[in-house]
Amino acid sequence: MNGMLELDEVESTNSYVMEHASDMKEWEITIARRQTGGRGRKGHTWKSPEGGLWMTVFLKDTDASLLPLSAGVAVAESIMDLGIRTCLKWPNDLLVGNKKIAGILVEKKGTNIALGIGINANFHTDELPTDIRERSTTILDETGHSVDIRQLATDIRNRLVEVLAMHDMGLSIWKDLSCTLGRRVEITSASRKIKGLALDVDKNGALLVRTEKGIIRVLAGDCRHI
Ligand code: BTN
Repeated sequence: MNGMLELDEVESTNSYVMEHASDMKEWEITIARRQTGGRGRKGHTWKSPEGGLWMTVFLKDTDASLLPLSAGVAVAESIMDLGIRTCLKWPNDLLVGNKKIAGILVEKKGTNIALGIGINANFHTDELPTDIRERSTTILDETGHSVDIRQLATDIRNRLVEVLAMHDMGLSIWKDLSCTLGRRVEITSASRKIKGLALDVDKNGALLVRTEKGIIRVLAGDCRHI
């Protein structure tokens, strides 16, 4: 298994990995101490403070369709190993209660894939921007102690290898760890907003929502538990 590149400060580890894709080995992990413009799924950026796990795994020619959900399972299991009860909000936000502890951003350019994972680890939430502070938690806040960031990054990658090898089984673990299924949700995407009951995820990771207009299959969007 390939190694780990450790950087001090970058704008975004995902951007860094894509820019240096020709030098990257498959499964190589890039971590940064700080990000000046860490990027999220909603297109937003934020200053990612020191103490967090800001990592990107470089992948090539991997089937990206179930990667967001499989990565969610790998991160959830690694966080639970620390004694933190976490669950998955579709598609791959990691929550503790209703507070976010980690998020995932998968980006693809040609055959290059940057799998970005951000975990609020060894800092308190008051180091986060004010607009997300109230809705966030950290490993330090939950457990009272710090974790070995490099070890956590390696655990996640190793687990991801196992989850991807499980195929459909990985999806059923995602369902077991989900706190979205069975809940009422509001999903906002570029083109529409829908409300309804989250019923299931299909084999491509799309969320099936029972709405007033029937069952709608949602491939991407921002999900809010209501
Ligand atoms: C989200 O919750 O919207 C996704 C957050 C993903 C953040 C990680 S931090 C490491 C990697 N680099 C980025 O710029 N984003 C991801």
